[in-house]
Amino acid sequence: MPKSTTQFVCNECGYTSPKWLGRCPDCGKFNTLVEEVIAPVQTKKAGTMSKISSRAMPLSQVKYEKYERVSSGNPELDIVLGGGIVRGSLVLVGGDPGIGKSTLLTQVAAHLAKEHRVLYLSAEESCSQVKLRCERLGLDSDNLLLLNETCLENAEEAFYDAEYVVIDSIQAVYSEALSSSAGSVGQVRECASKIMRIAKSRGITFFLIGHVTKEGTLAGPKVLEHIMDAVLYFEGERTENFKILRAYKNRFGSVQEVGVFEMTSEGIFGLTDYSSLFLSDARGLAAGAVVTPSETGNRCMMVEIQTLMAKTAYGLPRRMSLGVDPNRLIVLIAVLEKRCALPLGTQDIYLNAMGGIKLNEPSADLAVCAALASAERGVAIDKYTAVFGEVGLTGEVRAVGYAEKRVNECLKMGFKRVILPEKNMKACEKFKDRIELVPVAYVSRMIKALFAES
Ligand SMILES: Nc1ncnc2c1ncn2[C@@H]1O[C@H](COP(=O)(O)OP(=O)(O)OP(=O)(O)O)[C@@H](O)[C@H]1O
Ligand SMILES: [Mg+2]
Repeated sequence: MPKSTTQFVCNECGYTSPKWLGRCPDCGKFNTLVEEVIAPVQTKKAGTMSKISSRAMPLSQVKYEKYERVSSGNPELDIVLGGGIVRGSLVLVGGDPGIGKSTLLTQVAAHLAKEHRVLYLSAEESCSQVKLRCERLGLDSDNLLLLNETCLENAEEAFYDAEYVVIDSIQAVYSEALSSSAGSVGQVRECASKIMRIAKSRGITFFLIGHVTKEGTLAGPKVLEHIMDAVLYFEGERTENFKILRAYKNRFGSVQEVGVFEMTSEGIFGLTDYSSLFLSDARGLAAGAVVTPSETGNRCMMVEIQTLMAKTAYGLPRRMSLGVDPNRLIVLIAVLEKRCALPLGTQDIYLNAMGGIKLNEPSADLAVCAALASAERGVAIDKYTAVFGEVGLTGEVRAVGYAEKRVNECLKMGFKRVILPEKNMKACEKFKDRIELVPVAYVSRMIKALFAES
């Protein structure tokens, strides 16, 4: 019987087994065993000990290597990448199905193919499907090399001839070294590390497309993200035309950058005027909606937060949140109930950040409270009022970063009044003549200011 070349290793404790097991006998965790290739052990003969050992060198003698950057042909993508594509880097683009990953990278590949040798390895779609897409997008892609292959070893030769390679997708390719099916944790890990070795040894730039799981993280192990030089995520609702590309990790640039894209039948393009994308036309008419300047990446965007309240039909009230962390919503409801005596305990509460954007920063807290207070009272908030600030459990309003930038954006977008944390007021004094600034120290003060109560 031939000797097995693979083994199964527990991701949690490192236990190895020659065959797959559902439960690790060592640590007792379920479904943690992943197939791995057994690396051949290199035995050194006695007396042939290598004399050359690695030598450390002073930092001053290290040669400075300037990263060569190439434009992707898409200014928004260049911004997210930190100024362009770095040669020899590995970039992972993840996102929900149908969000536009293949579309964006086909466009990039076609642009690069004008001057470079570019290979598009399509493991998911046939070459004719890719050609059809290129034609639909009106891409001049005569020099773009296409390959429909799922076995990584078979495609290796083709990689060596290219300067740029797009792999669509990493979950669809497999390595012959493992017997597990394509897309399994072991396969994704093995394929990614093999690609990394090729990229680093030959200076080939790789773009990998990755699928995300139901939880929104990249399918495959975390190690996939460690191997990559840059990890970019596409965000946005499938039904919306605009998408946000966010850098989750970038070894050659800031992770603060985001790109805003619009999906059209001619392709996916960067948007320059994005500030009013996340506002509704009916702003200011209905109760429960308010606008907040959100700092997403290095950009400030005006985002509308909408809430809806309905009397609870059953004993337990429902709380649903899209775009704002549901746990954060529950905490803010508790603050409003306890510190501002708002009777929310018998209401089902639904919250939505417009346009499918995700508000991860605490500066949206005060706006969420304002929207909830407005919905509870049934009084609409003036459409020219914006609110931002972090809310503490004691009901105090805490200072947030980039206050000047936020007020400036409100001014630019034609807002007339901004409710902001008192501690941020000093930094924003200079805008006092051009926009009404209402500093508040407590959530209760904000509610009084909003609804003109004394
Ligand atoms: N003929 C068409 N006209 C307009 N838009 C189209 C057309 N065909 C596809 N699209 C758009 O392109 C999107 C699919 O883009 P793309 O194939 O790049 O997504 P993807 O992220 O690669 O998806 P997957 O994960 O399935 O590979 C669709 O959701 C649709 O909005
Ligand atoms: Mg695709």
